[in-house]
Amino acid sequence: MKKTVVISALAAALACVGVAGPAWADPVDEQLVIDGETMITRAKAPEGHPFDEVLSGWLFRTVETRALETDSFTNPGMLEVEEGEAIWNKVEGSAGKSCASCHGDAAESMKGIGAHYPKWDAEAKRPINIELQINKCREQNMGAEPYDFDKGGQKQLTAYIKRQALGEPVSIDLSQGDLQSWWEKGKDLYYTRTGQLNLSCASCHEANMGKMIRADHLSQGQINGFPTYRLKNAGLVSVHNRFRGCIRDTRASFPKAFSDELMALEVYVTWRGSGLSVETPAVRQ
Ligand code: HEC
Ligand code: HEC
Repeated sequence: MKKTVVISALAAALACVGVAGPAWADPVDEQLVIDGETMITRAKAPEGHPFDEVLSGWLFRTVETRALETDSFTNPGMLEVEEGEAIWNKVEGSAGKSCASCHGDAAESMKGIGAHYPKWDAEAKRPINIELQINKCREQNMGAEPYDFDKGGQKQLTAYIKRQALGEPVSIDLSQGDLQSWWEKGKDLYYTRTGQLNLSCASCHEANMGKMIRADHLSQGQINGFPTYRLKNAGLVSVHNRFRGCIRDTRASFPKAFSDELMALEVYVTWRGSGLSVETPAVRQ
């Protein structure tokens, strides 16, 4: 297909999702400082990455939205992080334990941990993210029911754990188990066009990064700030919910949370954000 044909097909597709013309805007050249600590919002991309520089979604948001993230007191997502802290200390399940019974003070035991997930789960022979690790501990160590997707405090507890890695650069170890092959699978999915609009993740977050879709400034689609606080939802949004939303926007049927597809995508997209600070809970539109 000729390049012009590709571009006009994309323009038509983007028009369907409400693009307001071909406007392009640079991400801002500013530093994100949270509670006095400077975050890495631009990092040199790892070997084999399509971009030279990896950029946090924060750089693409409006002045007002950016400001909300700079202080724990103004960040509306911090209320849910506090709920996560209460859950951390709450006894549940037949073993009569809380997370804190075994892990103590999360500020120490969970420091930096959230920057290095997904990891390889040797028992399950698949990648594990924070949400699934929480469920594993609930089932195996507390005698409690695993959380259903996005329910029962899953987002709040995940955000609380990730917050203990604030500022830590994202890096995952692809040499663990079979993680590399999940990365490959995630990469395939990232570039596969789906839905009536025939768009892939890369159609928007790579080829059209920097363009405006409605009032939305297209970022690289990084996940270093998840769970993020979305102003639109007035609440935390999990990674898999965001993935599903973006896939739904292409008018495709979307895979289940924690399915092999979305776990593979999480491995790959996490890698695409290597070197960026964990910003959880990031504030987004
Ligand atoms: C009975 C003790 C026990 C309880 C209670 C428990 N865990 Fe764990 N947790 C462990 C052990 C042991 C490990 C390490 C081995 C493993 O991965 O299962 C672990 C691992 C973890 C990890 C991975 C840490 C890393 O270095 O990657 C996280 C995150 C975690 N637990 C969170 C939680 C949360 C959240 C709760 C409460 C919902 C909880 N745990 C309850 C014993 C416990
Ligand atoms: C039709 C265009 C489009 C497609 C296709 C698309 N997205 Fe998005 N995505 C958006 C828009 C618009 C936003 C909100 C603005 C932004 O953060 O880029 C967004 C936001 C995101 C975010 C949140 C970024 C942040 O900083 O909080 C992630 C993560 C994401 N997308 C991942 C994906 C993945 C993975 C795919 C493929 C499964 C995908 N997107 C496909 C348009 C798209």
